[in-house]
Amino acid sequence: MGSVKEEYQEFLHQMGEEAFLYPYRDACRRMEQKLEKINRDYSEKLGRAFISQITYRIKTPESCLNKIVKKKYPVNRNTAREYLGDIAGMRVICNFLDDIYKLAEIIKADKELKVVKTKDYVKRPKASGYQSLHMIVVIPSLAGEGRKIEIQIRTQAMNFWAVVEHHFVYKKGGYEKNGFEKDLKECARTIYKIDKKMLLIRKKMETAKKNENF
Ligand code: GTP
Ligand code: MG
Repeated sequence: MGSVKEEYQEFLHQMGEEAFLYPYRDACRRMEQKLEKINRDYSEKLGRAFISQITYRIKTPESCLNKIVKKKYPVNRNTAREYLGDIAGMRVICNFLDDIYKLAEIIKADKELKVVKTKDYVKRPKASGYQSLHMIVVIPSLAGEGRKIEIQIRTQAMNFWAVVEHHFVYKKGGYEKNGFEKDLKECARTIYKIDKKMLLIRKKMETAKKNENF
């Protein structure tokens, strides 16, 4: 048995290997193409922008190690592949609340995709106030034993909150202690109200436009 340090070094090396990472990158690229196609089709159908931004990142070996140690899983790449659902992470930003669910339905109905897990932090925000719809999907037809991709779907307003909160709080794991948790939670609630109101305005404008055309 080697030392813990050697075990960690070996893990970092394995996680950085192209053979391990390539299938994740491949899956992200395939998913990105799919989302771009969905966006083109639906933007045309709806007569407005459906998705406003698609980004993705692959988790660094160091970040994978931190998480796997924190979660007390055996430190090897098989457990990483199995238990870390977010080695490949995609973020999809929509303008409106209902678009989040519309997109989730499209993803669920896609025969090329398998949805492994869905977490709805829009309906049930996290204790921090965080809102997003998370889906873990695999693309079984691709090589690489169905590498998982975590897709976070949220509105622009939710993204604003999450980016700011992530920068100052979440990564440091101390949002309960920093004294801003109450204010941040209040902002998250206000953001939900704004998202609902913007949706209502859009719907009213759509109805008005329809009536105009008659
Ligand atoms: P990890 O949170 O990644 O340990 O895994 P999990 O299975 O608990 O997934 P969860 O759905 O809780 O969160 C996954 C991801 O969502 C995180 O890596 C963040 O990107 C994001 N997230 C979750 N909670 C928060 C939060 O309170 N604030 C912010 N800014 N992002 C969050
Ligand atoms: Mg979590």
